[in-house]
Amino acid sequence: MGKAVEKVEKIWLDGKMIPWEEAQVHVLTHTLHYGLGVFEGIRCYECEDGRSAIFRLKEHIDRLYDSAHILMMEIPFSKEEISQACIDIFSVNKLKAGYLRPLAFLGDGEMGLYATSNPVRVTIIAWPWGSYLGDDGIKNGIRTKISSYTRHHVNITMTKSKAVANYVNSILAKREAKLAGYEETIMLDPEGFVAEASGENLFFAKNGKVFTPPTTSALEGITRDVVIQMLQEMNIPVIQRNISRDELYVADELFLTGTAAEITPVREIDDRRIGSGKPGPITQAIQENYFKIVKGCNKEHQNWLTYL
Ligand SMILES: Cc1ncc(COP(=O)(O)O)c(C=O)c1O
Repeated sequence: MGKAVEKVEKIWLDGKMIPWEEAQVHVLTHTLHYGLGVFEGIRCYECEDGRSAIFRLKEHIDRLYDSAHILMMEIPFSKEEISQACIDIFSVNKLKAGYLRPLAFLGDGEMGLYATSNPVRVTIIAWPWGSYLGDDGIKNGIRTKISSYTRHHVNITMTKSKAVANYVNSILAKREAKLAGYEETIMLDPEGFVAEASGENLFFAKNGKVFTPPTTSALEGITRDVVIQMLQEMNIPVIQRNISRDELYVADELFLTGTAAEITPVREIDDRRIGSGKPGPITQAIQENYFKIVKGCNKEHQNWLTYL
């Protein structure tokens, strides 16, 4: 069983910091019924110098607004107001580090699919959260399985929107894999090519080159973008193209990337060992550099950090 979210003092809801217990919504909240909502997952790290910094806040807020725009939801706050609230929620709760969840949803009022007058509501929640796929997974790698569920088709759900409803597909796939004894699932797109994991993008290394699928069916991950830039800085060729599942079977290294999962090595897929079965040198270098960047130790990437 998973662990409940660690309670903090305050939650930001519709422009106000309110006590945790009071952050409630009505059962007629439209998003609860039909799933039209958008969200973000952001991390704030305690840096080496003792300060705290939110990682790539601007890019996450831009994606939140793009997600809402795609779903025709008008967020009734400016990007500056939402960004400031993301910063404030940490200080108000005296948190040095943690996970940040902005969520925009349709409130109650009209019901039915063509509800046009319901308010767009926004909440921002922060809580302490450790490694999403476990400390052992981060260190030694995880076991994965290709899902029997297909990832989104671009004309069924909108894949550029981090939409609430898109995650039913992820939850079904995750449950299937966990119940079968694996830690994570890797999903194929409607054409049968590798798309992404249930909540992470994917990279593999083969003969000194790194490959990642295009983001047609997959979310355009912000960590994915960080990793691509890191690989370029390390002079390791990175190629974006369609990937078949058996290419993963014979990869030298395989790893997943995401705000929650950070850089998690994969040691097994469909009961086949990847490479030596241990995190490989490229994965380890990427992981090490990533933690240095998010903790403010890399002078080149200070512009990715918003200090509290
Ligand atoms: C389905 C999916 N793919 C990929 C990612 C990775 O995206 P990011 O690196 O922006 O967190 C996430 C996490 O938000 C996700 O939910």
